[in-house]
Amino acid sequence: MKFSTLASISLTGLTAVLAAPSGTQGNKGAVFALTNAVNNEVIAFSRNDDGTLVKTGTYPTGGHGQGVDFDTQGGLQLSADNRFLYAVNPANDQVTVFEVDGSNLKMIQSIYAGDQPLAISLSSNGYAYVLDGSVASTGIFGFRVNNATGLLSPITNSTIATSNPIGVPGTVAFSPDGHSLIVTNKVGSTIDIFTVGSTGHASPAPFTSIASSGLRPFGAVFGKSNLLYVVESGLPALGNAGLSTYQLHGGPAPVLEPITKSEKNQQTDGCWVVVTPDEKYAYTASFVTSAISSYSVAKNGTATLIKGDAALPGDGSEPVDLALSSDGTYLYNLLRGSGAIAAWKIQADGSLQSIGGSFGKGQGIPVADGASGLAAY
Ligand SMILES: *[C@@H]1O[C@H](CO)[C@@H](O)[C@H](O)[C@H]1NC(C)=O
Ligand SMILES: *[C@@H]1O[C@H](CO)[C@@H](O)[C@H](O)[C@H]1NC(C)=O
Ligand SMILES: *[C@@H]1O[C@H](CO)[C@@H](O)[C@H](O)[C@H]1NC(C)=O
Repeated sequence: MKFSTLASISLTGLTAVLAAPSGTQGNKGAVFALTNAVNNEVIAFSRNDDGTLVKTGTYPTGGHGQGVDFDTQGGLQLSADNRFLYAVNPANDQVTVFEVDGSNLKMIQSIYAGDQPLAISLSSNGYAYVLDGSVASTGIFGFRVNNATGLLSPITNSTIATSNPIGVPGTVAFSPDGHSLIVTNKVGSTIDIFTVGSTGHASPAPFTSIASSGLRPFGAVFGKSNLLYVVESGLPALGNAGLSTYQLHGGPAPVLEPITKSEKNQQTDGCWVVVTPDEKYAYTASFVTSAISSYSVAKNGTATLIKGDAALPGDGSEPVDLALSSDGTYLYNLLRGSGAIAAWKIQADGSLQSIGGSFGKGQGIPVADGASGLAAY
C-alpha cells in the first residue's frame, strides 16, 4: 500500500494495516505466464497496488513446451487458495507443480499426465483433470490433489476418450461442486459432459455431448451458480465470434441448458474468456482481430454484448489467454505476438482502462512463438 493511501484512512484502519503479518505488506498478488518453449518456463511478475507488473523471476518447469500455440484455455492454473501453480508440458506429457510464495515459485513435482496435456482444471473437492489433445488419444486424465501439499497422484484408470477423437478440444472445466466436468470440441462444435463420482473417476454422462450454441466452442469457465460461459471462435466465418451461456443442472444425469445462444461481438476467432468474481462482466479475447470484447451478465444468466472492441491491444499483438486479479479489479492478457502482458483496470460500468500499455516485453516471453497460459491472483 502506498503511503499517501495510508495517510488518508482512519486510525482504526491504519492500526489494522500495521498489524498485518510482516511479509504480506505490498504483496498484491502475482501474474504468471507460460512460455511453452522447448525448455518450458514460467515468467513471474509481482503486481503493484495500481495493477502494474514487475518481473520477479523465471522458473523452468523441467519439461518441454511445443513452441506453437496450445490452442486451448487453461494450460497454467492456480489452486483456489493460490498456494500452488500447475503448468502443462505438452511435448513431454507432464504437469509441473509449483509452490507459490508471493510471485516466487518452487517446483515440487513433475508427473506424467497422459498424451500431450494442454489444459488442466482443479475441482473444489480435491481432484484435477487434464485435457490431453494429441490426435492419437484426445481425452481426459485424472488426479487426486492433496490440498495441503499441492501434490498430484494419478487416479487409476481415469483416462477417458472425449466424444470426438478429432474434436481438437478447447478446454476442460469442473463445475463448482466438482461433480461434473465439461470439454469443448471445436471441430464438430459440441460440448462433452462427464460426471465425476466420489472416487474421482469420471464417466461420460448419459447424453455425453450436446450441440454448441455457436461455431467452434473454445474457452469455457463456470461461474459460482453453475452458469457455464463458453466463447466461440466462429471460424471459418469472419466477425462471427460470440459468447454463450448454459445453466448446468447437475446430478447423475447432468444437463446443460442453453441460456444465451452465441451473442456475437463482431470479432474473429474468439478463444479465451474470463468472468469477474461478482459475475457482472465477462471478457473474451479474439485472436485474429486482436480485440477484447466486454459483456454484461444478468442475474438470470443472460449475457449481453457491451462492446465488441472494448480494448484493442494492437495489430499483431495476438491476444491469447486472459486472467483476472483475485479481487476482479484488473484484467491481464497474454500477447503472444508481442511477447508481453497487457493490463486494464475494470471500471464500474465494465469498461476497460489501459494501465501502462503492456509489461514484460523482452523479459522472457517468446515473441510470436507459441506462448500459452496465463494465471493471476
Ligand atoms: C482439504 O481437503 C479436506 C478433505 O477433502 C477438506 O476437509 C478441507 O476443507 C480442504 N481444505 C482446503 C483448504 O480446501
Ligand atoms: C483398469 O482397467 C483395466 C482394463 O479395463 C482392468 O483390467 C483393471 O482391473 C483396472 N484397474 C483398476 C485398479 O480398476
Ligand atoms: C434476463 O434479465 C435481463 C436483465 O434484467 C432481462 O432483460 C431479460 O429479459 C431476462 N431474460 C429472461 C429470459 O428472463
